[in-house]
Amino acid sequence: MRRARSESSNLLSYMFQEENPVKINLRDYSPEDWTTLKHIILNAENFGEVFLESEKLKIMVFTAHPEFGRVLVAEDTENKQILGYASVMIEWKALVITSIITRHESLRRGVGRSLIQGIKDLAQLLPLIDVIRVDTGDFMDYAQEFYKSCGFLSVGLIPHYMSWHNNQVFFVYPVEKRMVSNENGAEGEI
Ligand SMILES: CC(C)(COP(=O)(O)OP(=O)(O)OC[C@H]1O[C@@H](n2cnc3c(N)ncnc32)[C@H](O)[C@@H]1OP(=O)(O)O)[C@@H](O)C(=O)NCCC(=O)NCCS
Repeated sequence: MRRARSESSNLLSYMFQEENPVKINLRDYSPEDWTTLKHIILNAENFGEVFLESEKLKIMVFTAHPEFGRVLVAEDTENKQILGYASVMIEWKALVITSIITRHESLRRGVGRSLIQGIKDLAQLLPLIDVIRVDTGDFMDYAQEFYKSCGFLSVGLIPHYMSWHNNQVFFVYPVEKRMVSNENGAEGEI
């Protein structure tokens, strides 16, 4: 997958091109996106009305306090339609994916993978982050396949993790910091 950073000062604004049938731009969430995100949440498999209030609150907190978390929005470069979003919480040494949802009509077009790439790039930019974590219900086979296809490792299962009695599978993606040289030729992590 080839990415082209834009000139924008926005840290996470860039385009995904080539093999994607749709060209995707990643950017940070802004409050006017909420109506569309609400539509995406309400129409997503295993999400819906019950998650709406907590999602809204989380998005508001992360937007107001980016030191706690970030919300990435994937949009179609051509028509600016929002195709999906992901939120991550910044913990000690870890980025935790708290939501990732692709617009129902845009599934299997690389939107989710682009959002994961944005999260991996964010992990590179944040100096203390060693790992990306996520968990999902063991009945959500498609989500497990998705995380594995994005390079995540399945590291365990907790039975009866949630109050509605499903088992929860945990995944990690170890972050290997890219080394860069400074003007003196000395190498360091970014
Ligand atoms: C999980 C989700 C975000 C994936 O988004 P997506 O945009 O469809 O994913 P991508 O198109 O980037 O898929 C990347 C790869 O993941 C795997 N994958 C994605 N969806 C899959 C599915 N339903 N079944 C099997 N593998 C799947 C495939 O390997 C796919 O590559 P391919 O299409 O070239 O075969 C999406 O299914 C979704 O929004 N689901 C509802 C919300 C949800 O359950 N989120 C996860 C909560 S833990």
